[in-house]
Amino acid sequence: MLFEVASSSLPAERAVSGTSAPVGIFDSGLGGLSVLRAVRAALPHEPLAYVADSLYAPYGERDDDFIVDRTTAIGEWLVARGAKALVVACNTATAQSIAHVRERLAIPLIGVEPGVKPAALLSKTRVVGVLATAVTLRSLRFQTLLDRYASDCRFICQPGHGLVQAVERCDTSSPELMALLAGYLQPMLDAGADTLVLGCTHYPFLDEAIRSIAGDRLQIVDTSVAIARQLERQLDTHGLRTVDTDALLVPRFFSTADGESQRQLAASLLGIDARVGHVVIPSRRTRPLSGIA
Ligand code: DGL
Repeated sequence: MLFEVASSSLPAERAVSGTSAPVGIFDSGLGGLSVLRAVRAALPHEPLAYVADSLYAPYGERDDDFIVDRTTAIGEWLVARGAKALVVACNTATAQSIAHVRERLAIPLIGVEPGVKPAALLSKTRVVGVLATAVTLRSLRFQTLLDRYASDCRFICQPGHGLVQAVERCDTSSPELMALLAGYLQPMLDAGADTLVLGCTHYPFLDEAIRSIAGDRLQIVDTSVAIARQLERQLDTHGLRTVDTDALLVPRFFSTADGESQRQLAASLLGIDARVGHVVIPSRRTRPLSGIA
């Protein structure tokens, strides 16, 4: 029950030594559940602890410093409670803060990035749509990735304004959402795209909606399975795989909001019926300012 203990004074070096400690998975909100789904499928015996920062989602509409601040605070919170590795299951947080967080945390860290490379390998028409948050699309990390593959492939990059908010409300099929999504996908289809990169971990939950608009004209690139494999490699490299191979564990869920949408989405889309604990994770940018009249 390592995770139950609020051991904020536990040094990180001691926390990583326990192979039965949980893997922390974090997202601005519910999107990282698509990564958790893939991690569970690949590593069913690993204890998992998922934190959704839903009170402050979407990060895609936040400034860079805010994203670095929240990602660092949540990473430190998870480490202080014994996490042995951390998956930053958020493209936006990875794009803006992974280098900074890597310097601060003494545990293996796995980030996520839009599947530009697999899409460039898959596309026959050489036209690829990329749907991601505005912050991810304008990040240096993403632009560098794009430059590497853009010489013989055209990428149509579309910020998915409104899509994260829809998933956070558990809306994956309303007429308003379908219209919003169609407005993003149609120009890609008109330009001859045959491949779509889901560059935000919330978007795999819109998979069915995307298919009902685009049929089989777009092959969808979602990197969650690759992320799970990367986690598996990291755990093996650091000797952190759990030895308790009989246990089939229910992940622990935490939210900075009330957690109701998270409970619903975990139940309806992942088939996991679990309680979501409310947590307060203070950080420099979210602490109330004191001494100001
Ligand atoms: N799931 C996050 C991502 O992959 C969403 C970011 C947001 O909150 O805007 O980028």
